[in-house]
Amino acid sequence: LLPAAAAGALAADELRVYWHPDTAHDHPAAPRRQRVDRLLRQVLAPLVGLSPAELSFGREAHGRPFLRHAGAPDFNLSDTRGGSLIAVSRAARIGVDLERVDRQLPVLRLARRWFSAQECEVLEALSAEDARVAFLRLWTAKEASCKSTGTGIFGFLSAWRFDVGTAAPRLQSAPADAGAAERWRFLRLAPSAEHTAVLALRDSTTLTFSACQFPD
Ligand SMILES: CC(C)(COP(=O)(O)OP(=O)(O)OC[C@H]1O[C@@H](n2cnc3c(N)ncnc32)[C@H](O)[C@@H]1OP(=O)(O)O)[C@@H](O)C(=O)NCCC(=O)NCCS
Repeated sequence: LLPAAAAGALAADELRVYWHPDTAHDHPAAPRRQRVDRLLRQVLAPLVGLSPAELSFGREAHGRPFLRHAGAPDFNLSDTRGGSLIAVSRAARIGVDLERVDRQLPVLRLARRWFSAQECEVLEALSAEDARVAFLRLWTAKEASCKSTGTGIFGFLSAWRFDVGTAAPRLQSAPADAGAAERWRFLRLAPSAEHTAVLALRDSTTLTFSACQFPD
């Protein structure tokens, strides 16, 4: 991870992620929304050339936040126990989802409710642990995709169909409004030994990827 100060200005072709490992969930001093707002302002202010307090955020119809400043980069945040990940780029709308790798879930029940029939069929044939890992991989890929488009996850998870089991997301088909599957790019990250994340973006040309620590 680069120190944030060394990363400098955000280049036009750059996709940058900031990883903030935290223990605040174990000792919650501030409510989540307040903590997340502080992290976003800390990361985004230097990229816009304003102070953290001067940043102004808007929300799209389904809650996707954006910066209300001309020329500001797109960003997206995901937050779970033990850490927060913020992705920023000027080249595309980014979606990010972060989950803990040890997350235990009623995998088949959730998959039958939210995933496509084809994905369920493959998951059902796996051992419990393989299905759990494959489910988390699918979930992170689907949620990152929904966060890039900004639709929210409800009603959209099953239309984002991926190969089951691959660590790097391989998109088979996307909802009609999201365009052809070939237009999408995905990156799987392991920001810590306990976390897995996916970045999703559409119509990006070649990107330079950088990973940074949080600014002090
Ligand atoms: C937002 C959502 C995609 C993921 O939430 P999650 O798994 O609980 O949490 P994550 O940590 O991964 O992401 C939360 C952050 O994503 C961002 N976010 C919120 N809505 C978003 C959206 N529609 N698209 C992309 N990003 C969004 C915000 O930064 C949010 O943090 P905040 O709650 O402090 O504002 C999910 O809750 C969802 O689908 N919500 C639907 C909301 C909706 O449809 N509302 C309708 C309003 S009319």
